[in-house]
Amino acid sequence: MNILLIGSGGREHALALKLTASPLCDKLFALPGNPGIGEIAENIEGISITDGEAILKLAKEKEIGLVVVGPELPLTEGVADVLTAGGVKVFGPSKAAAELEGSKVFAKKIMSRYNIPTAHCEVFNDAARARVYVRQMGAPIVVKADGLAAGKGVVVAQTVDEALDAITSMLEDKTFGEAGARVVMEEFLEGEEASVLAFTDGETIKAMIPSQDHKCIYDGDKGPNTGGMGTYAPAPVVTPEVMERVQKEVLDPMIAGMKKEGKPYKGCLYAGLMITKNGPKVIEFNCRFGDPETQVVLPLLDSDLVEVMLACVDGKLAETEVKWSSDAAVCVVMAAKGYPGSYDKGDAITGLDEAKAIGCNVCEAGTAMKDGVKVTNGGRVLGVVGRAADIKSATAKAYEGVGKISFKDAYYRHDIAHRALERLEK
Ligand code: AMP
Ligand code: GLY
Repeated sequence: MNILLIGSGGREHALALKLTASPLCDKLFALPGNPGIGEIAENIEGISITDGEAILKLAKEKEIGLVVVGPELPLTEGVADVLTAGGVKVFGPSKAAAELEGSKVFAKKIMSRYNIPTAHCEVFNDAARARVYVRQMGAPIVVKADGLAAGKGVVVAQTVDEALDAITSMLEDKTFGEAGARVVMEEFLEGEEASVLAFTDGETIKAMIPSQDHKCIYDGDKGPNTGGMGTYAPAPVVTPEVMERVQKEVLDPMIAGMKKEGKPYKGCLYAGLMITKNGPKVIEFNCRFGDPETQVVLPLLDSDLVEVMLACVDGKLAETEVKWSSDAAVCVVMAAKGYPGSYDKGDAITGLDEAKAIGCNVCEAGTAMKDGVKVTNGGRVLGVVGRAADIKSATAKAYEGVGKISFKDAYYRHDIAHRALERLEK
């Protein structure tokens, strides 16, 4: 069948590699795709990724058998609803179900209703009341904008003053516009973070291999947050016992709860977790695959991704086997100097073929073609993925790949997977 992939980042490049590896995929189209994706798919320009009607028309024209949605925005805007109503199969939740990511208040309500472990919280739309609450609770405390804020709507305040500033900025200065019209004030959770992505058809939910993201820009998890500087899977902090609790206490009740609410959730559910000394607690849900988690999780999927996605769409996940490799994968993100602040674009990238020749996947995130040359075109330029029998050799492989690639002032972290390596050394 023909498949249409929506999105243009490293996550979508990882999806494209796996989709095109499926014997069920005759041809892959990408909207809009990127230069890396364009090497294995036909990129389509000129249609907005949130324009459901135009995407439906395109899907009919290209005889698309499955649409795979990468980013959250088309989902929270209801693209999956338009496609489903138009008779086109789509992997990704409806607008109502995507509210799990679109509104933190909604996610918190559902979690409380179905007893899913998460940080205690209070919701405020009034700054004066929020201030009283912060003074009462003290720090550390977490302040979150309700809506989508491009990953910037969370302030982990170490002091009361920091929390008060965040309240002023969100509720009074409207830094995030409507997305910050309500704030969630949350208990600070201590522990190690992990991501568990899961396939679901709305009835059955099957977890993928747990992974861990490195959000800070500098080695040692220092400096400002980024979209993710690297990932690895499996994450040993998620032991088989923890995984069992995640399935029973988080994933199963969530899917049953969403069904009961009349908002059955289909697609990939992303649970961002804090593994605390009392067990796993949910930090956030996302309605899509993680970026850059997908880059390390999907290479470990031994089953056919297209088959699994179709099972999710058709409500047949219970009888579909989802098999995983016992290998490990590590992704090191190469960024432009200055990111997550301002950075240059347009610098030539070399060595991509050399990295691929030693067996690495290279997932492009911020690249462009200029006069026939591949150049940098974003903060996070690309992710180099190494796969091997264990985390240590996968890390070595990823860094060997990084060593082959160069562009002006390329920046990357040198300690991706350090927590796993430390844990395994113990
Ligand atoms: P979010 O956008 O909700 O994933 O939050 C961004 C980051 O803030 C998370 O990855 C955590 O590192 C941190 N964070 C969010 N909520 C909490 C919490 N309740 N306790 C501790 N850290 C948190
Ligand atoms: N890696 C974090 C996210 O995808 O939201």
